[in-house]
Amino acid sequence: GPVAAVIPAAGRGVRLGPGAPKALRTLGGTPMLVHAVRAMAASRAVSLVVVVAPPDGTAEVKSLLDAHPLPERTDVLVVPGGETRQESVGRGLDALPPGHEIVLVHDAARPLVPVDTVDAVIEAVRDGAVAVVPALPLADTVKQVEPARTPGGPEPVLATPDRSRLRAVQTPQGFDRATLIHAHETVTDDVTDDASMVEQLGEPVVTVPGHEEAFKVTRPLDLILAEAVLARRRL
Ligand code: CTP
Ligand code: MG
Repeated sequence: GPVAAVIPAAGRGVRLGPGAPKALRTLGGTPMLVHAVRAMAASRAVSLVVVVAPPDGTAEVKSLLDAHPLPERTDVLVVPGGETRQESVGRGLDALPPGHEIVLVHDAARPLVPVDTVDAVIEAVRDGAVAVVPALPLADTVKQVEPARTPGGPEPVLATPDRSRLRAVQTPQGFDRATLIHAHETVTDDVTDDASMVEQLGEPVVTVPGHEEAFKVTRPLDLILAEAVLARRRL
């Protein structure tokens, strides 16, 4: 069946530094959000993209998307976002029309995810998984710490989880629609991804291989990397 993609793009991008909302910042002259929307529409399975825009920026996002048309098979909706990523995704889910049994949630801040990764996530859901996350092994060792007594001060290390069992997860994350909607209606804890809400329901979540180019543009250095990846693609 057809797949819908919800793209939360309502964040301000505080860690990127001053400037336009992150999703509207450009890469290779094109807004990050447009790259992200195209990355979802590049999959032939995706027939609807729901963009969750900055609350005061829906008109701007609509005209941006009008100026960057998608393949004819793909419809686009734009809805206003909320205070948190979780709220923004929830608003996107509220806007989904009936008929899409598989839903992807993809950060606008991951503009360069390759279509093969998108398709691998969709295929795993079609094969019966209720929740699928693209994941990569970690390069760095990870420490669990106690909060510092003074900001910027030393943090006591509590534990070092076995790195070989840890994964960094990316988006798009793919879901059985009913399960994802139920998770968003039920889970009220603060979370940083959608799959963790499904985990809290006790439902199984599985990984598929992620991709280095699906990294999240978070800090200024990430913009430099994204520009370089894009330039290499255009060679
Ligand atoms: N997001 C959203 N609504 C929010 C907060 C975040 O739709 N209220 C989206 C962002 O636009 C982004 C994705 O969630 O595409 C991942 O969030 P993150 O990388 O943290 O982006 P920002 O929240 O914008 O960045 P920062 O945390 O540095 O402010
Ligand atoms: Mg954020």
